[in-house]
Parts: sequence; C-alpha cells; structure tokens
Amino acid sequence: MPGLLEGKRLLITGVITDASIAFHTAKVAQEQGATVVLTGFGRMSLVERIAKRLPEPAPLVELDVQNNEHLDSLADRVREHVDGLDGVLHSIGFAPPSCLGAPFMDAPREDVSNAVEVSAYSFKSLTGALLPLLGNGSSVVGMDFDARVTWPAYNWMGVAKAALESVNRYLARELGPRGIRVNLVSAGPVRTMAAKSIPGFSDLEDSWGERAPLGWNTEDPTAVAKSVCVALSDWLPATTGSMIMVDGGVHILG
Ligand SMILES: NC(=O)c1ccc[n+]([C@@H]2O[C@H](COP(=O)([O-])OP(=O)(O)OC[C@H]3O[C@@H](n4cnc5c(N)ncnc54)[C@H](O)[C@@H]3O)[C@@H](O)[C@H]2O)c1
Repeated sequence: MPGLLEGKRLLITGVITDASIAFHTAKVAQEQGATVVLTGFGRMSLVERIAKRLPEPAPLVELDVQNNEHLDSLADRVREHVDGLDGVLHSIGFAPPSCLGAPFMDAPREDVSNAVEVSAYSFKSLTGALLPLLGNGSSVVGMDFDARVTWPAYNWMGVAKAALESVNRYLARELGPRGIRVNLVSAGPVRTMAAKSIPGFSDLEDSWGERAPLGWNTEDPTAVAKSVCVALSDWLPATTGSMIMVDGGVHILG
C-alpha cells in the first residue's frame, strides 16, 4: 500500500533535538513516503547530527526567521534539493524568560515583540518566502497550544499563540484562492526543549494525562506527528484556517 505522503516534497522547520515535534513529524513523513528537506536555526552542526537519526538522509538549509537574507534566499536554497513543495511545517516558537512564568505585568515590550515576531509573524514570513514553490493542493501547517484560554505560566507565549491563530486564519483566507491550505495543529504538552523552558509547565504535563478523556503521553510526540502528516497530506482537502485539536480531548472539558 502506498504511504500517506508518497511523492510529497515537504519542508520541515524546527528540528533541534530528537524530541522536537518537527523531528517526529519528519520521521513519520519519511516512513509515509515523503521527501523531506529540513531547516535549522543557529546550531547547524547539532541539527545535522540529529537529522542523521532520521530513517533517510534529509538535506538541511539554514533559516533564522528574523533574518531577511535567509528568508529572501530560502526558496532558491530549497530549490537546490527539490523542484517544488507540497507541504510546509512551521514548528517554531520562542519567548524570552520575562514572557514565561515571570509576572505577566513585568514583561518588557521588546521581549513581547520578539516573542510575537518569532512565534506568530514568522508563520507569514515563512509561508511568503516559500510561495514560489507552493502550488495548487499544497498544505502549510503550524504548531499551536490552544490560546483561546489562559494557562498558568504560558503568559506572553499564549498571547503570541493567539496571534498565530489569527495569522493562520488570514493566511488561509489569502491563499485559499491559490489552492493552498493553511492550518494549525493544536497539541497537548510534549516534553521538548521549548516546553522545558516554561516554568511550571511540568504541572500542566502531569495533570494532562489524568484529565484527557483519551489519555495523553507527554513523552511521545507520535500522535502529534501523525496528525501533522494528515494535515500535510491530501486527506483534509477542504480544511483551511482550522485549529486541529490533538490534545487527547482536554479542550472539551469544563
Ligand atoms: N512541546 C509542547 O508541549 C508544544 C505544545 C503545543 C505546541 N508546541 C509548539 O510546537 C512548536 C515546536 O516546538 P517543540 O515543542 O517541538 O520544541 P523545540 O524546542 O524542539 O522546537 C522549537 C524550535 O523553534 C526553533 N526556533 C526558535 N527561534 C527560531 C528562529 N528565530 N528561527 C527559526 N527557528 C527558530 C528552534 O530552533 C527549535 O527547533 C512550537 O511552535 C511550539 O510552541 C509545542
């Protein structure tokens, strides 16, 4: 039986460790027949080493979403490896320590601005930079943590995610006429480098598994990775601007 992503050419951002949601997505995608190109931020030799743990070798291009030269040259640098893209995963988030866990009222505006630029505005920057490679039927996916409500410690990252949710809707509206779908996967907590940097996040992780109607394993991003792969595939052809909830069902609880 052909894989879910047979013949698909995917760009996957956000690998930094083998716990990264992006790493697990790249792994499942390759297992399902996709050709994967990775982007790495900053620590390129580390990302290269982690990429070697994937089932297949994956080319790596450098991308800091705050660097205009990187963005302007991205499509050409990706084209050195694939002649177009059928899917893109934005799996990028960052907020300075003042934005996470510290008193909400104390975060300086420069830090908030940085968090929103890297975590929300970059969904537009990345998609815009790759538009020359994206055709009718392609799919862009971003990673969300449900920002319709507040969470302990998540603070300005939550605000950035709320912005991301809105960017997702506007991108979907803008790019729908070109046949490009844009969606977010809203995941429950997964123990990654980004998650560990959130003080108090472990309390959330501990209770999630008990609360989730389907249960939840913070150590295993496979459910999240599989769901991202479905969103990148041809099997959600009329879904755009959506938040696909992949949280064991916690979002339905009162
Ligand atoms: N781990 C969770 O519990 C969880 C839950 C829901 C959503 N998410 C989201 O999933 C995404 C991936 O996070 P993760 O949990 O896999 O953690 P991670 O630490 O493995 O990945 C975060 C990635 O963001 C990249 N990044 C940061 N600044 C960047 C920049 N300027 N340019 C390019 N890349 C940059 C890092 O290099 C890293 O690869 C994030 O958007 C995160 O908010 C995570």
